[in-house]
Amino acid sequence: MKKLFTLLLSLCAFSASASVEERMLQDFESYQVGEAVDMWNIYNSDISTSSAIVAADPKDASNKVLHIKSRSWNTLVALHDLGITAADLTGEGRFLVFDLYRPSSDGAYKQLMIYCGDKRVYIDGSFVSQCPPERWTTKCYQFDASTDESGTLCLGFNSTDAEYYIDNVRIVDVADFGYDRSDAENSIRHYAEQCGKNIGIAVATGDANFFSAMNDDSKVITQTVSSQFNMIVAGNEMKFDAMEPEQGNFKFETADKLVAFAEQHQMKVRGHTLVWHSQLPGWLGAGSEGASNNNNYTRDELLKIMENHITTIVSHYKGRVHEWDVVNECVSDNSTQTLRNSIWQKVIGESFIDSAFVYARRADPDAKLYINDYSVEFAGNNKADRYYNLVKKLVARGVPIDGVGLQAHLYQGAVDSAKLDRNMKRYAELGLNCIITELDISLPTSQFGSQTAYEKQAADYRKIVNVTLNNANSPSLLIWGSSDAYSWIPGSTNYTRGEPLLFDTYFCAKPAYYAVRDAYSARATTMALEEVLNAVPSESLYVDVYNILGQPVRLHMHRSQIYSLPQGTYIIDGKVMNIR
Ligand code: XIL
Repeated sequence: MKKLFTLLLSLCAFSASASVEERMLQDFESYQVGEAVDMWNIYNSDISTSSAIVAADPKDASNKVLHIKSRSWNTLVALHDLGITAADLTGEGRFLVFDLYRPSSDGAYKQLMIYCGDKRVYIDGSFVSQCPPERWTTKCYQFDASTDESGTLCLGFNSTDAEYYIDNVRIVDVADFGYDRSDAENSIRHYAEQCGKNIGIAVATGDANFFSAMNDDSKVITQTVSSQFNMIVAGNEMKFDAMEPEQGNFKFETADKLVAFAEQHQMKVRGHTLVWHSQLPGWLGAGSEGASNNNNYTRDELLKIMENHITTIVSHYKGRVHEWDVVNECVSDNSTQTLRNSIWQKVIGESFIDSAFVYARRADPDAKLYINDYSVEFAGNNKADRYYNLVKKLVARGVPIDGVGLQAHLYQGAVDSAKLDRNMKRYAELGLNCIITELDISLPTSQFGSQTAYEKQAADYRKIVNVTLNNANSPSLLIWGSSDAYSWIPGSTNYTRGEPLLFDTYFCAKPAYYAVRDAYSARATTMALEEVLNAVPSESLYVDVYNILGQPVRLHMHRSQIYSLPQGTYIIDGKVMNIR
């Protein structure tokens, strides 16, 4: 940490900004380069091969950081004398935050453990990708509820081959998230439901430890997901490699947890995804591009594998998963080609799509079946039109398909409402639903932190929601991720873009959150008013309005003025009416 910044932070400890307060615990500036920091092993095993040494920041030689090599399991850095207790680490809106850097030689998948004294206050539910190589990344953790026990803060990645740097270990308190997770009536979910829509969110293992946190109602992510959304989709956990990691050996545990969570919170589940060229297990022999056939499967053999995969999974969740992405990303990005090269397309041919839908329909006749793709949102664009033509052919030949998914991984500024609307309408004409399945609207890194950019992003979100509200065949809209800290966009754009979601790193609402909430709430109000107007006999131009105690509110009110009545319950022309 640079000296000036340290000084500023120490001057304003616990008062960094209006709603987020930071307390620096350790920035390693008072150490000498080369000085060792203690390490500790949970089981008192030999730690002599591991080390934690204060070093120059690999990106900025004037800054001191801690360089850790972990060569034995369960070996953590022990930060003494921070003057904190386990109780200091827990609390509503409180996070432990630090900056993390990994050299490219370090493997990506590690499990973070944090102890206070010998009490564990945090562990990642599984080994997750912690951060990209050679880039400082802010990491943010919320602890399990803990007893008041004083002690040393110990943290580290559980690994025998980890090498990483940490800096600026701090406690962050969010005093105001900008939305009230306990106010069910003022949530995106509530207004979307009033409009008869599903509003969904993708959650993945690495997102604030979601699959461990989901049973803990005190966790911010758990509260956010269940209070603001009525649909959920697994970011990775229901993909081919996760569900059938070994041939014929299905792993349901994690996906089962997601489905149980959804049921507990009255949310619908979107299943993602059955047949795709990506995230396939090694045993399938499809290679890194998903387009090889290294096992030389015959067409019949591969169809059997696909049938078994789809039938087993869809039957397992029969009646519990509302809809499935049956075939994902099958359209080629090459404008001269219809289908992408994939093991499925190559070995089975275009009819792999038909077969996949048939197997899924047989396994759960009530689940809604979708095809899903990216860069297909706007009618008139080349890939969107090729997608449409493919889907039209599927419908013509009787493939059991209910809807079309538009992933909508969009750039800020690229939203074209008219083209999106046209797209949804042309699918309606085919008798199909058309939904937004993976919405994120990213910013270039140069605009990170810019309020103007966030406002523009919010306007784009609002446009999308409004188009879906104008189309009855668009019942669901899902957002691809919870907070900006866990978005897949930076990693997939070589860190040129990001911050595409509704919530920032600490789950504070961004303008996009309010835009989405307002779009649903405005429509819910209009719908309620329309209900009233439709209920009033059209011949009476003037109506008498009473409150529920029968006291007159307005007599001889012109019908058109009913819009201006404040929220409440009224008796209008002898009928009880709710004005929302
Ligand atoms: C992404 C996940 O978000 C990442 O965590 C993972 O590393 C790669 O896949 N289209 C899809 C999603 O259908 O499954 C992808 O999800 C994003 C693009």
